[in-house]
Amino acid sequence: MDLSSMLAREDFFTHFFATVRKYYKEVRNMDVEIGFSSKKDCNLVIKPYLSAATAPNMSSRARSFFYSEWNVRSSFLKYIAAKAGVVLLTHSGKSFAQFAFRMTPEDALTPDLVIAPNNRSIRFFDYKSGTVGCIIKSGFTSKYFQNQLNFRKSHAYPFMLPMLRWGEDWFIEPILIGHPLARVTKESVYQQGIVDALADIKLLAENTLSQAEAEAYVSEMTARIGRLLSQAEKRKHIKTAASALKIVEKAAETVGKSLNSIPMCESHGDFQGGNIWVDEKGKTWIYDWETAGRRSVWYDSAVLCYSLRRPFGWEGLAGEQFPDKLLNCDREKRYDAGGYQEIKAVVLLEDILFYLEDLLELPEDWGAEIFDAFVKRIEQIRT
Ligand SMILES: Nc1ncnc2c1ncn2[C@@H]1O[C@H](COP(=O)(O)OP(=O)(O)OP(=O)(O)O)[C@@H](O)[C@H]1O
Ligand SMILES: [Mg+2]
Repeated sequence: MDLSSMLAREDFFTHFFATVRKYYKEVRNMDVEIGFSSKKDCNLVIKPYLSAATAPNMSSRARSFFYSEWNVRSSFLKYIAAKAGVVLLTHSGKSFAQFAFRMTPEDALTPDLVIAPNNRSIRFFDYKSGTVGCIIKSGFTSKYFQNQLNFRKSHAYPFMLPMLRWGEDWFIEPILIGHPLARVTKESVYQQGIVDALADIKLLAENTLSQAEAEAYVSEMTARIGRLLSQAEKRKHIKTAASALKIVEKAAETVGKSLNSIPMCESHGDFQGGNIWVDEKGKTWIYDWETAGRRSVWYDSAVLCYSLRRPFGWEGLAGEQFPDKLLNCDREKRYDAGGYQEIKAVVLLEDILFYLEDLLELPEDWGAEIFDAFVKRIEQIRT
């Protein structure tokens, strides 16, 4: 998530300053002060487009963070323009600073530090020690953070980074070198990344497989969606609660005709190219386990293979009569056209739940438009 979206969404700087103080106190046992300052007196800056704070004279190691972030996949020209922009912005000291801060004591900062605000957390990349600290952003609930912490404490896989230290609302892990899959520019590496990431979640699914009764799972989801929709109407003023309920009822009706049981497993939940890392050796790592939980074995494969987090993802999935890619983690793998319809209906219910839970965890008055647009798109596909 970029800085401009966060500035529009939340009281960003109040949360930013409070979180930086908290991180230093809890993780490094240091009392720091941070606030806006003149360019002349500043020792920390945020440059336009870079969306992260650094010392004005950052080290070449810190610069590598921005080179990795600005690996643009869409076109070669944009790739070159982005790289040139990063060279200029990371070599220009205090010039071009969009925001200037002063943090004391001075030794809390080094040229190797990059403070990167994310969706619900702030990351402190320390390229000297090769580690990154992640802490909940003040003003956000701890639900997702706790979920990630619990999941990572209880699951160890070769594709999960180990946490080196952790507390109630923070953890430290190694810094990965390479790129998120979404920013890998070499097509063969990108395609191999998808294959490997699918094999990774298949291993997780196989180790955590169980069967749920189809009707029970669907009616539990339907009831939960109903409750969350009325909360979202009251707290977030969504306008599409009635349409969403109709979509949910129709999907729930579909399931149970031929599927008696649903294979379930531990699922990542937001299994998209921004949460899969390809390191410099080409090895995949899966991170951001905030939304981990038990879902059907079809859900994660659907999110990645049909790009459900992108516009037109659902249009693609809905248009396929036999969407075999959904079955990556499914041992049974034998369904007729009706079976596939039922599988798609389960994935749709899980996806609506995903968006609703996400919406309700964001700061007040934010997110309703995104949810309403999602429901309208689904409505168009299904009518
Ligand atoms: N261990 C790591 N090493 C290097 N980069 C990392 C590491 N962990 C996370 N990142 C980078 O930080 C970004 C945000 O991390 P994460 O996915 O955990 O947060 P998020 O809540 O999804 O934030 P956002 O939605 O703003 O990306 C990742 O997309 C990745 O670019
Ligand atoms: Mg993420």
